[in-house]
Amino acid sequence: MTKSLPIIRTVHDLQNLVKKWRQQGFRVGMVPTMGALHHGHLSLVSAIAAKADKVVVSIFVNPTQFGPEEDLDKYPRQEQADQEKLSQTKASVIYAPTVEEMYPEGNATSVSVSGISEILEGAKRPGHFDGVATIVSKLLLQCQPDYAIFGEKDYQQLAIIRRLVQDLHIPVEVMAGQLIRESDGLAASSRNAYLTANERLIAGQLNLILKDLIQAVMIQKVPLRKAEIVATDRLLSSGFSAVDYVSIVDGTTLLPLESVKAGARVLAVARCGGVRLLDNMPIL
Ligand code: PAF
Repeated sequence: MTKSLPIIRTVHDLQNLVKKWRQQGFRVGMVPTMGALHHGHLSLVSAIAAKADKVVVSIFVNPTQFGPEEDLDKYPRQEQADQEKLSQTKASVIYAPTVEEMYPEGNATSVSVSGISEILEGAKRPGHFDGVATIVSKLLLQCQPDYAIFGEKDYQQLAIIRRLVQDLHIPVEVMAGQLIRESDGLAASSRNAYLTANERLIAGQLNLILKDLIQAVMIQKVPLRKAEIVATDRLLSSGFSAVDYVSIVDGTTLLPLESVKAGARVLAVARCGGVRLLDNMPIL
């Protein structure tokens, strides 16, 4: 039987452990998560373990990134199952602090990355990325890892974290974890479990329609705004209940592009029944 992975709960214990590792010459990696781990998260652990000697996986359901309409209490919390999954990986320790540890009484500081946090997902979920930027800054400053990894699935989150690490001069290398797809190409997400069998079939169209969009702009030279409209119409006629956006953007600033250039990316969110599905792909 695999030994279960230790869990630490305080900043003090985390810092002591990381200090000890550093004295031993180890390179430290961090994988921030909110738990409810699936194979996408586990692939982040493998990717960072290829570079770091010791890997901290944080599990913290961060209240400040949930809007008033979003159900923080219903977010899945399954620490024991997560611990079992992580015990089979190269993770070294789980850091699972309490809300009081992360936001002690009197806590008054938040981090906001302006501009990029207000568009796309930020426009749909006001304040969400301030919560993300604040907690990620706290985690990185508490742990001070050499590497930290974030999935490309949440591409806007990754772009915001890259910006804040650069702006705040946090000495960490941000790594991008490859987007993991199911066998039909649907991006892996804990939300996929909420799809009915029929919705699951519809959901599998999202990645195909984005691939067609890339083909249209790259090969048929379709103007970018037109390609976005065509993809949106196709999503709706394939059975998606709504399309929040299909946007061809600069991969760093996430601002809309007029023509394709290096780093161009398509970001999309479509709703299937009650489930919001995110996807994105590089164009060039
Ligand atoms: O992507 C997530 O799971 C969260 O947004 C993160 C980065 C762990 C911050 O709470």
